Amino acid sequence: MKELLDSVVEEFRDIWRNGRVATYIPELARACPDAVGLAVCDLGSGLYTAGDWNYPFTMQSVSKIVSLALALTVCGEDAVFSSVGMDPLADPFNSIMRLEMDAPHRPHNPLINSGAIVVLSLLPWTESSERVTAVSDLAARMAGKPSVSMNSAVYISEKETSDRNRALAWFLKSVGNLHGDIEDILDAYFRQCSLETNCADLAVMGATLAADGRNPITEEQVLTPRVARVVRTIMATCGMYDGSGEFAVSAGIPAKSGVGGGIAAAVPGMMGIGTCGPALDSRGNSVAGLAMMKKLSEVLNLRIY
Ligand code: DON
Repeated sequence: MKELLDSVVEEFRDIWRNGRVATYIPELARACPDAVGLAVCDLGSGLYTAGDWNYPFTMQSVSKIVSLALALTVCGEDAVFSSVGMDPLADPFNSIMRLEMDAPHRPHNPLINSGAIVVLSLLPWTESSERVTAVSDLAARMAGKPSVSMNSAVYISEKETSDRNRALAWFLKSVGNLHGDIEDILDAYFRQCSLETNCADLAVMGATLAADGRNPITEEQVLTPRVARVVRTIMATCGMYDGSGEFAVSAGIPAKSGVGGGIAAAVPGMMGIGTCGPALDSRGNSVAGLAMMKKLSEVLNLRIY
């Protein structure tokens, strides 16, 4: 496995040139575009890493699988899916258009920005710090680490510039679909997006989902099998945003991307995969990550469809 991962990183070392790092959150523009890391956490034989596997980046939207898992656990499926849909969307992750056009004005799924903001608002804590502590504790347990830290510079940078997410939140409030203190909910959202990770953590998080909620490294049952299955399913249908259908055809594995450059994938009963590559395509998915996921899926025959 180690040789395979080394060869995949080598093959796609330069593919980042086809993408660009995110700049709409100014601090993300400081990322190294050419960092390329790959990790697999095999449910039987453990963790394998290659390339810049310990390059740190922020979870961004990958954190949405953690907050979804938390809300499903704490609030239950019915409460979550009566406020947020479970269908893919062919629009960008921060688009406001469908939210206004479709009635009820409910986010299409929990992994687009509007959906993740609603999911956070459902959590039964009033302070943003409590919501984020619960999300980061669960992220740590899924990754098999004592704790997960937050990148303050990225948090402040997003908080200062996130007019689009504010627009989404205030629109949701105006149609009665977001309750609570909007600035506090948004603060929790910016903090959870700024949780710091690397592709090895993402591989273990993916493996926890792949193993029906049991972390294969710590052996802790972190999520119920049902919650892990629902999260994997939403990843498979919505995890790569408006690139989800294409990724389902080309790689065929449940995965979730983030504009920090990470992708976490869960291959049921087999493994978790984490990739790092801060240069993104036009949809906000890591160019190197997509290429490495597709390659591994092909070589190891990982398709679930
Ligand atoms: O809210 C945002 O725009 C970012 N904090 C997260 C977006 C993201 O990661 C989309 N992923 N590909």
